[in-house]
Amino acid sequence: MSRPSVNNELIFYINGKKIVEKNADPGEMLLAYLRRKAGLTGTKYGCGGGGCGACTVMLSRYDPIKDIVLHEAVNACLQPVCSLQGAAVVTVEGVGSTKTKLHPVQERIAKAHGSQCGFCTPGMVMSMYTLLRNKPQPTMEDIRESLGGNLCRCTGYRPIIDGFKTFCEAQTCCQNGERNGKCCMEESNCHNKESDISGEIFNMDNLLPLDPTQDLIFPPELLLLAKQPRVEHLCFQGERVKWISPVDLNDLIELKAEYPDAPILVGNTTLGPKMTLKGTLHPVVIYGGDIPGLRAIKWAKNYVTVGAGCSLSVLKETFLQAIQDLGPEKSKVYQALVQTLQCLAGKQIRNMATIGGNILSANPKYDLSSILAAAKCTLHIISKDGAREMPLSEEFFTGFAKTALRSDEILLAIDIPHSKPWEFMSVFRQAQRREFAFSIVNAGMKVVFRPDSNVVEHLDIFYGGVGPTLVRARHTSKKLIGRQWDDKLLAEGTQLLEEEITVPPTAPGGQEEYRKTLVLSFFFKFYMEVLLELQERKVDVIDLSLEYLSALKPFKNEVPQGNYSFQLVPEAQSLSYPVGRPNVHQAGLQQATGEAVYYDDIPSVKGELFVSMVTSTRAHAKIISIDASAALAIPGVVTFLSAKDVPGQNRRLWFNNPEEVFAEEEVICVGQIIGAIVAENREQAKRAAEQVHVSYQDIQPVFFTIEEAIEHQSFFDPKRKLERGNVEEGFEKADHILEGEMYMGGQEHFYMETQGLIAIPKGEAEELDLYVASQHAAYTQEVVGITLGIASNKITCHVKRLGGGFGGKVMKIATLSAITATAAYKTGRAVRCVLERGDDMLITSGRHPFLGKYKVGYMNDGSILAADITYYSNGGCTLDESSFIMEKALLHMDNGYKIPHLRGRGLVCKTYLPSYTAFRGFGGPQGLTIIESVLHEVAVKCGWPAHKVRDINMYKDEQCYTHHKQLFSPRDMVRCWDECLEKSDYHQRLLHIQQFNAHNHWKKRGISIVPLKFGIGFSKGFYNQGAALVNIYKDGSVLVSHGGTEMGQGINTKAIQIASRILKVPMSTIHIKETCTGNVPNAAPSAASFGTDAVGMAVKNACEKLMGRLETLIKKHSQYTWQQLVVEAYCQKISLSATGFFMGPHTSIDWEKSEGPAYYYFTFGACCSEVEIDCLTGDHKNIRTDIVMDVGRSINPALDIGQVEGGFVQGIGLYTIEELHFSPEGVLLTRGPSQYKMPALCDVPPQLNVHLLSNAENPYAIYSSKGIGEPPVFFGCTLFFAIKEAIAAARRERGLSDDFSLSSPATAEKIRMACEDCFTRMVPRIEKSKPWAINV
Ligand SMILES: Cc1cc2nc3c(=O)[nH]c(=O)nc-3n(C[C@H](O)[C@H](O)[C@H](O)COP(=O)(O)OP(=O)(O)OC[C@H]3O[C@@H](n4cnc5c(N)ncnc54)[C@H](O)[C@@H]3O)c2cc1C
Ligand code: FES
Ligand code: FES
Repeated sequence: MSRPSVNNELIFYINGKKIVEKNADPGEMLLAYLRRKAGLTGTKYGCGGGGCGACTVMLSRYDPIKDIVLHEAVNACLQPVCSLQGAAVVTVEGVGSTKTKLHPVQERIAKAHGSQCGFCTPGMVMSMYTLLRNKPQPTMEDIRESLGGNLCRCTGYRPIIDGFKTFCEAQTCCQNGERNGKCCMEESNCHNKESDISGEIFNMDNLLPLDPTQDLIFPPELLLLAKQPRVEHLCFQGERVKWISPVDLNDLIELKAEYPDAPILVGNTTLGPKMTLKGTLHPVVIYGGDIPGLRAIKWAKNYVTVGAGCSLSVLKETFLQAIQDLGPEKSKVYQALVQTLQCLAGKQIRNMATIGGNILSANPKYDLSSILAAAKCTLHIISKDGAREMPLSEEFFTGFAKTALRSDEILLAIDIPHSKPWEFMSVFRQAQRREFAFSIVNAGMKVVFRPDSNVVEHLDIFYGGVGPTLVRARHTSKKLIGRQWDDKLLAEGTQLLEEEITVPPTAPGGQEEYRKTLVLSFFFKFYMEVLLELQERKVDVIDLSLEYLSALKPFKNEVPQGNYSFQLVPEAQSLSYPVGRPNVHQAGLQQATGEAVYYDDIPSVKGELFVSMVTSTRAHAKIISIDASAALAIPGVVTFLSAKDVPGQNRRLWFNNPEEVFAEEEVICVGQIIGAIVAENREQAKRAAEQVHVSYQDIQPVFFTIEEAIEHQSFFDPKRKLERGNVEEGFEKADHILEGEMYMGGQEHFYMETQGLIAIPKGEAEELDLYVASQHAAYTQEVVGITLGIASNKITCHVKRLGGGFGGKVMKIATLSAITATAAYKTGRAVRCVLERGDDMLITSGRHPFLGKYKVGYMNDGSILAADITYYSNGGCTLDESSFIMEKALLHMDNGYKIPHLRGRGLVCKTYLPSYTAFRGFGGPQGLTIIESVLHEVAVKCGWPAHKVRDINMYKDEQCYTHHKQLFSPRDMVRCWDECLEKSDYHQRLLHIQQFNAHNHWKKRGISIVPLKFGIGFSKGFYNQGAALVNIYKDGSVLVSHGGTEMGQGINTKAIQIASRILKVPMSTIHIKETCTGNVPNAAPSAASFGTDAVGMAVKNACEKLMGRLETLIKKHSQYTWQQLVVEAYCQKISLSATGFFMGPHTSIDWEKSEGPAYYYFTFGACCSEVEIDCLTGDHKNIRTDIVMDVGRSINPALDIGQVEGGFVQGIGLYTIEELHFSPEGVLLTRGPSQYKMPALCDVPPQLNVHLLSNAENPYAIYSSKGIGEPPVFFGCTLFFAIKEAIAAARRERGLSDDFSLSSPATAEKIRMACEDCFTRMVPRIEKSKPWAINV
């Protein structure tokens, strides 16, 4: 056969513009192409592995099989540029713009307050836009499905849904069922009965209508191109990889014979992450995505043949149709597949990933093989030698990522049989998160009965996730054939499975006992499902107990809806005064159109270089030598940097605590920066950094956990103590003494934008500009100055906005800046640093794990007389902010409770882990959770509901003193508590829960309510200051600069509202460009929930000064417009520029005396949550949360509610699903969204109600408002305690003690293992010489 000729011209479109790429790089993904070559930076990098959705774009192609143009959302980070032949790409810029015309999707997400930091927003817009292209009037379920693959770390998703649900027809909207006789669309935008309380946070008036004529059409040229037969190979040769796109199936077969080692790349969702994130190199790849023969679907009488190249989305639609066409009996396999496909990955991945790729990846965590094997599918395999068939079963998988396919063979298609009468099929999966997460264990099970009987004719059980390959329970199945489907079969089956399925103690992923339990639990569920069906078919089977049916009800994923309410501004307030109104985020529209500029969106500067870090692979070792010669030999590499290259001091100083910028002689954690490679581009820098060879000599000791640090007495100074009353005396008087402990794991910030900056030397007088993602620009400036030995006045830090910070961009970014600045200094060229997600997670660390050990003395009525708590935090290898974080934990240890004798000690453990740092809440959540755990345990001991014990112990007097003797009034906390009890209908629901639990054996519910008192401001008093600069220009426009950082919380919006109020000009007249150390020097970090307090006052002060200067003119020329007034002032030589300053409170604490006003004031609140758990799998569903929050007089209720919801959802992650794993060698294993699960849409309670307390005042802060950024994270603990209640209910029913320990987060594994039952007891405790992961 003659070979097709070769073409190396790639033709595709981006946003309606034709691209002809002659030198397409096979290694380049669409994301990098868009951002760097096409200059379209609206599409964002969040993870590079398909796990976050920030890079979502729409891809349209002509489908010759269906003869239609398909529009699909895909992840640009996994879409190779070379695969784009004939495709039209639409990015957020192609959808609409503020300069031309907005698209309604962009307008509505912004106006509904669905964009905070904005980094996820373009991805959200593109997912929704693609949905609307396919379905202009979607249902809520469509929206839920479309957004399942998009993560947002700021908003809590509800406002995004609020904006998008306006596209649904009202009657199709409320998939969640009506509440109060109203559809959620009507309900969430209503006025409350109380006349000054509103639930209207945004209104739908004057919204742009959906106008299909605004959409880019599919280019006719591409249509013609697609319809022409392909006769040429598309071939591209990159630096290291060659790409070949065959013309048809025969050509593919030929090529595979010629290049047997070349993978067939189709969706690139397995290959892509391996190549881009793990460095796997395939010198040749053959593209299989353009071969119609691989995508054919053919229906036969008893089966369907699906092409191996069919995407999972296409399959889902196909199977849904089959279910309708074939009816329930024949479509059992398709029902099972749909059930799994609904929660497998996100929509974008399902659009890209193929069934063939899923099978051939041979990854036991992938879900499809266990189902397809149980269904007895057949694989059609083809090669130059001919075609053959193979059953898809355990024998096909020969090892992890290995199959029986020969290297020259291609998987052509899969036959999936229809179900036969008396055949039953079920599938199961349990993952860290219910959707968009790999399964921990999955299973496919099929049983065939002798007709009209319960006698087993055939049984097949397959498990994934219990070994390196797919596992078949062959022996068990065989033994059960001929048996009746009854309790005896169940008992024997579980026993056999326990013996047959082994999870080796060394299994990657750990969780051996849990996985083994899932094996049994899944079988039990299968048994129940089948039993129920047999019963429905009137087969004589044993009676099913009603309580046991709860094993079967799967949790339904719903769309979060919510009610919110806030107090309206007084009627008398002028309409032009924006303070107190729910104004939209100042840059919301820019964020939704992709126009908002983040640091890595700044175009590259001429000659710009890239820096990549070289990090330690040992936890504690002496550096013997560093050899960068191999790295330096790589083309494009400019230089290698280490400690000796630092021109000034190789240290970052923080309150006299030095931390090395580059490790010089010794490393003290895995991930510590030892050096850096500077290269012409990021790929070269990354590759070269991996080639730097460091030799080490290990040093002892080395340890990572809090317990080990206690053993070694390894603590940082200072060690803190706070004490009130006489604890020993309290213990003596108490009726009972309780001792226990509570462990809380750490948390990764997972801001969607990874850390980085651009350093640009100005070429004159050592001046240097930094465009940096920092929450504390002044500190970055200071550290860079010390590192370079240059005065601060020559270093200017610019911070336009951050794609999320959450405390993680205060400290570490200063080190990264020092290194990047050193690179710029040494090379004299601009240098960019953008951490990859995995490196960011490794290097920058996160929230401190805490262990609280307590002794409590309490009375019979549940009142606590005395508590002595020792807090241990894991500080990691350097102090960073750990001691202040510990102080905050101690200062919050009383929460809202008046415990007369209270003592707290705080010790920060020094271990050999990357140094932990600030994270929203700053130790507050840990301090609060441990005291809440104490209250919870006391309630359990007393046999009281926990709310009663909380209520009894609460501060209630009009004037109270905290345990550090700060005077405060708990009035508004008690109001929040009472209102929360009422609004959540707590008492009634508690009764319902008790009834539910009595009637459901395998599902249990729990409810929990907590109060909150949270200190606002820095306890280091000097930080409580704010500064601003306000300039008025002659055209009347106003430029505000301030020292705060916009990171989604809306500080700029609030500052503009304040300036607008004082200057009496519309908000549109005022602009905030950036935070800049050149405009406002020495600013405090944007942290401690104090940003608006400090900055707002400073802006107010500056504006008042200006108005003071204009006062006489205003009086004299009352008829003047603002602009005329400004011009007149200019002519009269009145300065139109003013600085503002706010000298905040002198907070302090005397640790010797245990007293002092540590905080400016307190923000109060209360939160109630209800959850349901599946006792068999450990899965849980958040059902409803009600929050009542005291934010004083809100400056902007929409932003404040956004902070409450967003903080709470971060708390959901902290307390229930986010779990970091370290190896026993101290290596962080969870380095991306595939391993580390933060809350997705499915985790938000379908009912999330937020109410801002009305008639709340705050005499201390600007316009009587209160800081709100940090406090709501703690509310996530209500889910933890509700889960604990639910587990306790299960345990009580099984005759076990409800006094058991549960550490945070309450993951599926912990829930399942705490719900002890016959299955957990069957699983022997596995002795491990070395665990897979350790609890640090
Ligand atoms: C973020 C994310 C989440 C995910 N979540 C899940 C999940 O929850 N459950 C789950 O089951 N999976 C999940 N996956 C995996 C996903 O389903 C698979 O990666 C996908 O199905 C592989 O198909 P692909 O076309 O992308 O394969 P590719 O990556 O293109 O190829 C994978 C392998 O298959 C080979 N191959 C592909 N087609 C053929 C063929 N026709 N003949 C011969 N060899 C072939 C390739 O050579 C390669 O070795 C997830 C993936 C990602 C990125
Ligand atoms: S960057 Fe593509 S999914 Fe995260
Ligand atoms: S707004 Fe979604 S990540 Fe910030």
